[in-house]
Amino acid sequence: MKNTVSTLLAQKQSGDKITMLTAYDYTTARIIDECGINSILVGDSLGMVMLGYENTLPVTMEDMIHHTAAVSRGAENAFVVADMPFMSYQVSVAEAVVNAGRLVKEGGANAVKLEGGAEVCAQIEAIVNASIPVVAHLGLTPQSVNAFGGFKVQGKSYEKAGKLIEDALKIQDAGACAVVLEGIPARLADIITKKLFIPTIGIGAGNGCDGQVLVYQDMLGLTTGHTAKFVKRFADLGEMMRKGIKDYISETKSGEFPAAEHTYAIDEDIINRLEKENNI
Ligand code: KIV
Repeated sequence: MKNTVSTLLAQKQSGDKITMLTAYDYTTARIIDECGINSILVGDSLGMVMLGYENTLPVTMEDMIHHTAAVSRGAENAFVVADMPFMSYQVSVAEAVVNAGRLVKEGGANAVKLEGGAEVCAQIEAIVNASIPVVAHLGLTPQSVNAFGGFKVQGKSYEKAGKLIEDALKIQDAGACAVVLEGIPARLADIITKKLFIPTIGIGAGNGCDGQVLVYQDMLGLTTGHTAKFVKRFADLGEMMRKGIKDYISETKSGEFPAAEHTYAIDEDIINRLEKENNI
């Protein structure tokens, strides 16, 4: 069954946790979709995990459309959410609507996601008025890395926590269909989740949220170096890939690969004739 805005809302109401993972290509989207995930996020985290940038800021609309289209082709039942990249919605409401429209028309997304609270409510309202569902994103919003002075947990003081609650209510009033809460204290996420009728999807925000999202490379052990405290490794695909690739190199060098079962046969008479003609 296709996951929609309505099914996600029903999940919040019934207490059935919403599952979301990122994906950026057709093959991965198919595997994730086949596992029965509720939603796939084509995150602008692709800037880091697919394109090797230091942060999400260089990601373009063209990057997002290219990857969203690939994911949409692989996602049969998952609700596909595409991130609006940095500077694709901040400059003007009109630009935000045009760019959200491109992610749906050219990328096949079911919804778009953008970062921010009160300051992006006009954009949320206009995009929703164009019949495009919007997922909001509050807390440690990666596009504000320079303003935050690094990737730091948000909402720890009374004032900042209060502002996040206010922002959550404002984006809900503006028409957002869900909100990602990233890098905020679990007890604060609990309060926001209880105050809102729209679902909260947490990443580094504790298990009181209505759902969870992770970057798939992080939870499957494909990323190297520092990983955030909130990441749980559910598998070590990085190690499996390294072993498989090393075995391929060594079997190719030794001649063990390809074996007879990996090759195509030809009539012996034809070979004999060809060898004679070619002096072999
Ligand atoms: O870009 C992304 O992957 C995200 C998640 C971390 C929520 O926004």
